[in-house]
Order: sequence, then structure tokens, then C-alpha cells
Amino acid sequence: MALSVLVTGGAGYIGSHTARQLVAAGHQVVVLDNFYSGHRWAVPADATLVEGDVANSELVERLLRDHDIQAVIHFAGYIVVPESVENPQKYYLNNTVGSLSLMQACMETGVDKFIFSSSAAVYGIPEVLPAREDAPTAPINPYGRSKLMTEWMLHDLAVSRQLGSVPSDGQGDFRYVALRYFNVAGASLDGTLGQATPEATHLIKVACEAVCGKRQGVTVFGDDYDTVDGTCVRDYIHVEDLASAHLAALDYLAVDGKSEILNCGYGRGFSVSEVLNQVRQVSGIDLPVTIGPRRAGDPPALVADATRIHEVLDWTPQHQDLAVICRTAYTWERDGMASRAEAEAPSAA
Ligand code: UFG
Repeated sequence: MALSVLVTGGAGYIGSHTARQLVAAGHQVVVLDNFYSGHRWAVPADATLVEGDVANSELVERLLRDHDIQAVIHFAGYIVVPESVENPQKYYLNNTVGSLSLMQACMETGVDKFIFSSSAAVYGIPEVLPAREDAPTAPINPYGRSKLMTEWMLHDLAVSRQLGSVPSDGQGDFRYVALRYFNVAGASLDGTLGQATPEATHLIKVACEAVCGKRQGVTVFGDDYDTVDGTCVRDYIHVEDLASAHLAALDYLAVDGKSEILNCGYGRGFSVSEVLNQVRQVSGIDLPVTIGPRRAGDPPALVADATRIHEVLDWTPQHQDLAVICRTAYTWERDGMASRAEAEAPSAA
């Protein structure tokens, strides 16, 4: 079923891959992005692109009405864990208050389907791994708390709609899917879309920049964790698979699926050292590594129990392979980023 969908943050890394898949699937896509970390070139030509902020309720309500939006996919948010430790108010304002403003606009305009980019960071340091969705949520950094608060708000709004406790405005249910992302990485298989976040901090991106000579090397943030080799373990998911999970969630809500919180990972973890070795292997380039102190806000290990998402959504990941994740990230870093920069550079007068 083709829907009219607002994609906030659709010029960013995961948002642009999702917008591209939505357009390819025949949906009408409106991208709202303030270009904090997004790029115009990343937005598919067939999407309507609007520059603006999710917290601008007047603008958002107008977009929802003018484009007869039926569903919102909300990516726009800050994602850097250490920055959230240093500047929590930035995260609460944008990630939490901004999300509330967007939800309020949905309430005002009767948009009843909402897909939210949540995070594995809501678990904090899980007692049991892999982490199931019903594991206790105890985030250990402001980023995780900003996402968890948004999940709570979504839950409360959905319940209030079911109870009919909202003044009778003639509107029905509000249903959502919160996708708890684990560690997303990689680039499109055709090499035309990938992560272009300025001053990226994520491991695979940083490692690819290093093998491409864009930085000196990689510092491993701690090798004294209680893990397989002392470095932190994460569940890395390919960006194309993560994007397709959003389309599956949209299809699910479109046929009256009930609200759900779902892990988005593959269910197996790799250590920082294993990832760096993989980047060395796919690039064939040695990667200088320094061992540094632990980074604030880092859980030792985070791996998804991915059972539930397969039960609920019609979703089959296609790129469940660390080598594919690292190879596509590397190829994008080496070739794709450069061709984008060239295409964007103002021609010499
Ligand atoms: N790391 C390094 N050196 C670097 C960069 C990262 O050693 O230069 C390590 C980190 O300490 C961590 C691991 O690599 O142990 C992964 O770090 P990332 O910065 O790539 O990602 P995070 O795990 O901090 O966070 C990401 C997302 C969150 C999500 C989380 C879930 O940004 O949204 O994964 O695992 F919640």
C-alpha cells in the first residue's frame, strides 16, 4: 500500500537510505531536515525536500496537512554518546523535546502511524546478553535517556488514544513502532550512498577514514573490559537492512499492527579489535592503532536478541556479514564520498 510519509532527518545517514527505499517502493516521501548533519545530495530526487526543524510545530503541522501525511518516520536526532555526556541539554532539547513537539503535531493533524529511531543505548549495561526488548531499561548516558523518554512518551500517547481519554476530536488510535538500533554501519551496495557525517565518531567510519588516509589512525577506547579480548563488543547492522526494517514497520502499521518496540540488530557481537581487523582485511591497508583510556558512557557489550522483530515484521536482512558492512563502508569512504564532494564543489569561475 503506497503511503504519504514524512521522514524527519531524511538527508542524514540512515534517513537517506530509508527515503531511497521508500521512494523505490512507491511511497510519497517528504523529507524534513535542518542539515545539521545531513546533505541535500543524499535525498532522493523523487522526494520533496523541506529545510526545517522538527521542533518548528507550525511548519511541521503545515507539512502534515498539505501533504496529507499518513505516517511519520522520525530519524532527526543527535547520536553521539560522548557528546551527550558533555552537553546533555542539547540531547534532551533536540531528541526528547523535539520528538514531543513532532508527536503533538501528529495529534493535532490526526497522523496515527509513527516509526521512531530508538537505540540500544536504552538498555545501559544489560545483565543478560543478548538483550531482549523486555530487559530492564537503565541507560548510562544522556543520549540513551533522551531516547528512552521518547519511547515513554510514545507509549503514553498511544495508551491515551486507546482509552479515548483525549477530548473527543474525532481522531482514532495512535500506533507506533520504536526500533532500537544497535550499531549501524556500511553503505549502499552500489556505492552511491553512505555515511557522510562531518567529524564522525563511530568506529567503522573512523577506521575507514584512517585507512583512506583521512586521519592518522584509530584509538581503541579501552582494552581492559571483561570481554573476549578486552575491547567493547557491539552488534553491527548494515544500514540497508536497518532501512528496510523501517519499510517493514510501515507495512505493519498500515495493516493495523499494534504498537511495538523492536530490537534492530543481527544478534551477534564483534569486538573493537575484530572490527579493526576486518577493516584491515577488506581494505588491504594496515591501520595504526593506539590503545587509549575507556570512553565515558560506553557499555562493555551490547548485542541484540533479534527474535521479536522477526516474529512481528516481515523483515529479512540481506547483508548479515561484517565483511560486507566494512567493505561497503570502505568503498564509500574511498570513492563515493569523493565523487559527492566533487559534484557539490562550486565550479571555478
Ligand atoms: N570506539 C573506539 N574508537 C573509536 C570509536 C569507537 O574504540 O575511535 C569504540 C567505542 O568505545 C565502542 C565501540 O567502538 O566501544 C563502538 O563505538 P561507536 O562510537 O561506533 O558506537 P556506540 O556503541 O557508542 O553507539 C552506537 C550508536 C548508538 C547505539 C549504540 C548501541 O551511536 O545509537 O551504538 O550499541 F545506541
